[in-house]
Amino acid sequence: MKFDTPATANPIDQLKVVGRPLDRIDGPLKTTGTAPYAYERHDVAPNQAYGFVVGAGIAKGRVTAMDTAAAKAAPGVIAVVSTLDMPRMAKGRMNIAYLFGGAEIQHYHQAIALVVAETFEQARGAAGLIRVDYAREPGRFDLAAVAKTAPLVGGDSDEGSGAPPEDRFGDFEGAFAAAPVRLDETYTTPAESHAAMEPHSSVASWEGDKVTIWTSNQMIAWGRRDVAMTLGIPIEKVRLDSPYVGGGFGGKLFVRADAILAALGARAARRPVKVGLTRPLIANNTTHRSATIQRIRIGAGRDGKITAIAHESASHNLPDGKPETAVSQTKLLYAGANRLTAMRLAELDLPESNAMRAPGEAPGLMALEIAMDEMAEKLGIDPIEFRILNDTQVDPEHPERPFSQRQLVQCLRQGAERFGWSRRSATPGQRREGQWLVGMGVAAGFRNNLLTKSGARVRLDKEGVVTVETDMTDIGTGSYTIIAQTAAEMMGVPIGKVVVRLGDSDFPASAGSGGQWGANNSTAGVYAACTKLREEVARKLGFNSADTVFADGMVRAGNREVPLGQAAGEEGLAAEDVIEYGDLAKRYQQSTFAGHFVEVGVDAMTGETRVRRMLAVCAAGRILNPKSARSQVIGAMTMGVGAALTEELSLDKRLGFFVNHDLAGYEVPVHADIPHQEVIFLDEVDPISSPMKAKGVGELGLCGVGAAIANAMHNATGIRLRDYPLTLDKLLDKLPQPA
Ligand code: MOS
Repeated sequence: MKFDTPATANPIDQLKVVGRPLDRIDGPLKTTGTAPYAYERHDVAPNQAYGFVVGAGIAKGRVTAMDTAAAKAAPGVIAVVSTLDMPRMAKGRMNIAYLFGGAEIQHYHQAIALVVAETFEQARGAAGLIRVDYAREPGRFDLAAVAKTAPLVGGDSDEGSGAPPEDRFGDFEGAFAAAPVRLDETYTTPAESHAAMEPHSSVASWEGDKVTIWTSNQMIAWGRRDVAMTLGIPIEKVRLDSPYVGGGFGGKLFVRADAILAALGARAARRPVKVGLTRPLIANNTTHRSATIQRIRIGAGRDGKITAIAHESASHNLPDGKPETAVSQTKLLYAGANRLTAMRLAELDLPESNAMRAPGEAPGLMALEIAMDEMAEKLGIDPIEFRILNDTQVDPEHPERPFSQRQLVQCLRQGAERFGWSRRSATPGQRREGQWLVGMGVAAGFRNNLLTKSGARVRLDKEGVVTVETDMTDIGTGSYTIIAQTAAEMMGVPIGKVVVRLGDSDFPASAGSGGQWGANNSTAGVYAACTKLREEVARKLGFNSADTVFADGMVRAGNREVPLGQAAGEEGLAAEDVIEYGDLAKRYQQSTFAGHFVEVGVDAMTGETRVRRMLAVCAAGRILNPKSARSQVIGAMTMGVGAALTEELSLDKRLGFFVNHDLAGYEVPVHADIPHQEVIFLDEVDPISSPMKAKGVGELGLCGVGAAIANAMHNATGIRLRDYPLTLDKLLDKLPQPA
C-alpha cells in the first residue's frame, strides 16, 4: 500500500480497540519471567555450549601473540577462537568498528577471542588463562583537545535527525552582532552507555551452511543483512529470531560481537553456542553515545524575538563513523531569520559512537534548552513566554514547508497550568523548605517523526483467529499490544482473537524498533496487510468490498452476515502487504512536541539534587495505547534524569577506555530517585503521518528533560551549570555559605 496522500476516514478511526489503554498482551509472560530472552533460549537447539568473549586490553595497536594452550587444555573447553586465527572479517553496513578477526585493535575491549566450554564458568575460567601480547600504539582520546579544529562533517543519525557540515540562512554573524541581547555559551555532555537491563546475547546454531541466531536485536532486517555480510555468506543462509528484547535504546540496533562470535563459536565447536556479553564488556565492546561540546549563540531584540541563532557541536567517533547530530533540532524548533548550524567530528580511538535513544536531539536539547532559559533570563521574560514568542508553524529554514502538526505552544500552556508554574519564583534561590532549595524548570521537547516502510502478513483461520507475523521487535515498548489492537480494529474482532508473532527474519520485514518510528510504521504495515485481508474476505464471500463491515467477529454487507471464521473456511486466508510512503514527509515537516516540567530540591549543604515532580505534556499524533505510550514517556523521562544528574562514561584519557563499566559505577536512576511523574497527551491526529495518524513518542519523552532539570536547579539555587552530568561537586563551592 502506497501512502502518498493524507489519510481520510478509515476503520482505525472507530477507536473500538485502538486508542484504548489496554494492558500489554505480553504482560503475563514478562511478569512471570516466562518471556524467553536470547540467553534463555535453552529449548531452541539441543546441547548448547557456552562462549565467553575476551576483549582487548589496549585501545589501539596490535595483538602480537596469543597463547591459548592453557585455555584449550582447561576442563570442559571445547574450542578457542582467536582473532589471530583469521583475517579481519567484513563489516556489516551499520558497523563502524570491526567486530572480529585480524591483529589490529581499534578500541579497548574489541573482541579478540572466544572460549567455548561445557559451562559458562569453565569458559570464563579458561578465558582467564589466555596470555596476550600487544604492541600498543598511542591513541587520540581527548575530544576537548581537538574539538575546535576537527573537520566539519555532516551526517544523519539513521533515526530521523541530521544536518550538513555547515548550514547558513540569512546573515548570522551580522544579525548576532547587531542584536541588543546576546548569549554565547558552551555546553558539554559526556559519553553515555545504553545500559540495557538485558546484556547483548545470542545463541547460534548451524545446519549445514545455514545459521540461525536467536538474539536480542532491535532491527531484524538490518541484522540479518549485516550477519550475512560479516560472515560472508548469502543472506538466505541467515535467520535471526528476537521475539523479546530486554531494552535496547539504540545499543541493539546493530549486530554486535555476541552474534558474530556465537556463529563462529558454533562453527568451531560443531554444536550450538550461546554468548552473552558480560556487563563489564558492554561499555567498551558495544556502542555508546558520543560526548559533545556545543556552542550556542542566540541574539534577540528587546521584544524577545530571536533574530540570530547558531548551534555548533563537536563529537567523536572512530574512522568512518558519523557525528552525533546534536544541532538538528535547532534547525526546526524556533523562528529567527539568521541561522547557522555546524558539526565537527573528531576522529578518536575510543569505542564506536553510535545511536542512543533520540540521537541528536537528546544531547542537542540538553544544551539548546538551557541556552533558551538563559536567554529568557537576560531578556527578563518568563521562559515559557519566550519560547512561545519564538514559535514557528513552518520550517524556519524553508518557510514553504509547514509542520504537519505543531502544538508546542499548547504543550507549554497546558503544562504550565497543570504543573502550577505560576507558583514559580522568577528570581532564583527564593524558595527554601528546610534543608532544600526548591526550584522549577521547563524545556521544550522536540523529536522528528520518521516514515519508513514496514511489512506484515496476516492470517485468518476458521475459528476467526487473526495471526499477525512481522519481523517487528518489542524492546519493552508495547509493540505486541498495539499491533494486536490494530489487527483487532481492522478485522472487527476482540483483542483476544489476535495472535502476534514478532522478531523472526522469516516474517515480512518491518520498520523495526528505532528512532521512535516503530509504533506508527509497524502498525501502518499491519493496517496495509489487514486492508488486503479484508478484500480477500469480501471477495471470497462475494461481497462488495467497499460496503463490507467487519465488526463483532462478523462480516456484513447489505442484509448478509457471516462469521469471520466461516469466511476463512477450512484452509484459512492470508494476506501480506507493505506500507510505503510517498513524498508527504518532504512536503510537510513531521515532528513531535512536548513541554517538560520539573521541580527539584537541591540540598543547601551538600549540593545533592533530588527530582521532586516531573510532568510531560506531549503532542505526538494519535496515541495508539495511552498506557503503553505513557510507560514509554515515563521511561524516557527517567532516562533524562540519569542524563542530567548521574550518567557519564568516565574516560581514562591516558589509556583510552571507559572506566566505569558496570552499573555500580555507571549510575542510572532507580525507583527511589523518581518520586512523581505525570504524562499528558494532547488530543491530536496527524493524517499526514500514516493511515494510523500516529507518530512516535518513545524518544520525545527524553528530549528536553535534562535541560528542564538543569533549569530547575538554576531556579532553585541561582547556579547555572552547563556541563553534564550536574553532579554535586559542580555546585558545592557556589552554594550559599552556611551561617
Ligand atoms: Mo534508536 S537510538 O534505537 O531509537
